[in-house]
Amino acid sequence: MEAAVRRKLVAANWKMNGSSAANAQWVAAWRAVKAPCEVAVCAPFVYLPQVGAGLAGTSAELGAQNLSEQAPGAFTGEVAGEMLLEVGCRWVIVGHSERRAMYGENSELVAKKAARAVALGLKPIVCVGETLAERDAGRTLEVVGTQLAAVLSLCPVEQLASGALAYEPVWAIGTGRTATPAQAQEVHAAIRAQLARADTQAAQRARILYGGSVKPGNAGELFAQPDIDGGLIGGASLAAAEFAAICAAAT
Ligand code: 13P
Repeated sequence: MEAAVRRKLVAANWKMNGSSAANAQWVAAWRAVKAPCEVAVCAPFVYLPQVGAGLAGTSAELGAQNLSEQAPGAFTGEVAGEMLLEVGCRWVIVGHSERRAMYGENSELVAKKAARAVALGLKPIVCVGETLAERDAGRTLEVVGTQLAAVLSLCPVEQLASGALAYEPVWAIGTGRTATPAQAQEVHAAIRAQLARADTQAAQRARILYGGSVKPGNAGELFAQPDIDGGLIGGASLAAAEFAAICAAAT
């Protein structure tokens, strides 16, 4: 079978960072950037209208960092996918390890959120990844496989391929300790093989991003791996120039 050509995708995850002034500076700088890849910028909820307006006419699409698994209704403090669409989001991060670890999101909830996103036509970036203890215990592929299986139980690969998967080893997030290209590639290949067991063709189309201390200096060799289709960038996405340098490595 002919290998699918997957266009690289680089997504910024600003996490709980930003301010009206900082966002305005970021988008002003971004407007001069010509990225060779697809780009998503996932901003905090309250800034989505501002950032969306700033990105208009650029190649970057707007994304959120979370959504409710519920339809609009009596869910205090939650944000529905319908609302994200209304303010211009095309993308939404689902199941980030910070939400799993600090806000009690288990794989079942993550799967429901991913299903809700695809049902609405939002492109999910579904995150999976092991902790350091799990890696040291030799359980990386088992942990990632179990997290992915939960999502696959509710979302066909075809639908997930409209968005992306993201492999984010927890020990590499915000630590400056990146997975080596070989370590990342091993997990990415396992993820693609698991997708392929459900749907061979859609698995070839699905983009699998790497996240965890990606910087301009290491992005190129990570993105050169056969199953690494781009990145999900935290700290290094907060400065537009640094993020643009990472995007430039995604050819
Ligand atoms: P860092 O790039 O800051 O390590 O964060 C990665 C991440 O969690 C992106 O979602």
